[in-house]
Amino acid sequence: MPRGLRVFSRENYANPPLDSVPAFCDAWWGDGAAAATVHDEDGNVNNSVTRIGVLVSGGGSNMQAIMDRIDAGEIRGRIVLVVSDQPEAFALERARRAGIATAVYPYHAYPSRGVFTVAILDALRAAGVELVVLAGFMRMLTGDLEAAYAGRMMNIHPALLPSFGGPGMYGHHVHEAVLAYGAKVSGCTVHFVTEEVDGGPIIVQRTAPVREDDTPATLAARVLEQEHLAYPEAVRLYCDGRLRIEGRRVRILDEAPV
Ligand code: GRF
Repeated sequence: MPRGLRVFSRENYANPPLDSVPAFCDAWWGDGAAAATVHDEDGNVNNSVTRIGVLVSGGGSNMQAIMDRIDAGEIRGRIVLVVSDQPEAFALERARRAGIATAVYPYHAYPSRGVFTVAILDALRAAGVELVVLAGFMRMLTGDLEAAYAGRMMNIHPALLPSFGGPGMYGHHVHEAVLAYGAKVSGCTVHFVTEEVDGGPIIVQRTAPVREDDTPATLAARVLEQEHLAYPEAVRLYCDGRLRIEGRRVRILDEAPV
């Protein structure tokens, strides 16, 4: 953690997420969950960096790539909360090791997708999250989240959208489809999230060749290497204020508007 920054415990929240989650929902905070509000030495909220919330379901290698670029001082952002639907997700362990607050919302503990979404939305808001990063989050959410974070929520997809995207196209299904179609190039796409699955404005794309002897697993690994470059880059540009959404197009500005 950078010098001069202090992380407050959950008790310091004015509006802790658990207060806004119905009791039957059984959401809980990870062991020793530290908090989400970053303060300077005088106790003031530090607003010089973008407050990032990351949603994960699995290993969290993309989140790690972003964390590494933040630690290197290359992204003017800070991950203040990591949310998962999977209590055992290794991404949570990565977050805990880095002293980042975690929250787990087991999907099946909720009566509906809507209640699940609102619980997560409440947690993000309570943590003061400004940018939501979906990094291998395997649950569909309702439009409440997209509406609340329109133009402030990103996702990464392991193919070159608009090809090989949309409902049902996730994980190995994507790479199987790329190979079955005979595409010679694949890659990854970071995009803003809209209600259309994988359909939001594209921020960054990177390519990876498809090799003759590729299996879905070998292609996935090659694409993942590119994801680890593309996602931190998209987050960096956002935190520098250099992204401007114009309809379907995201313009990358040379510098942030004054
Ligand atoms: C990545 O392939 C990403 O494109 C997809 O889910 C995977 C997450 O991997 N949305 P990781 O958890 O970041 O390692």
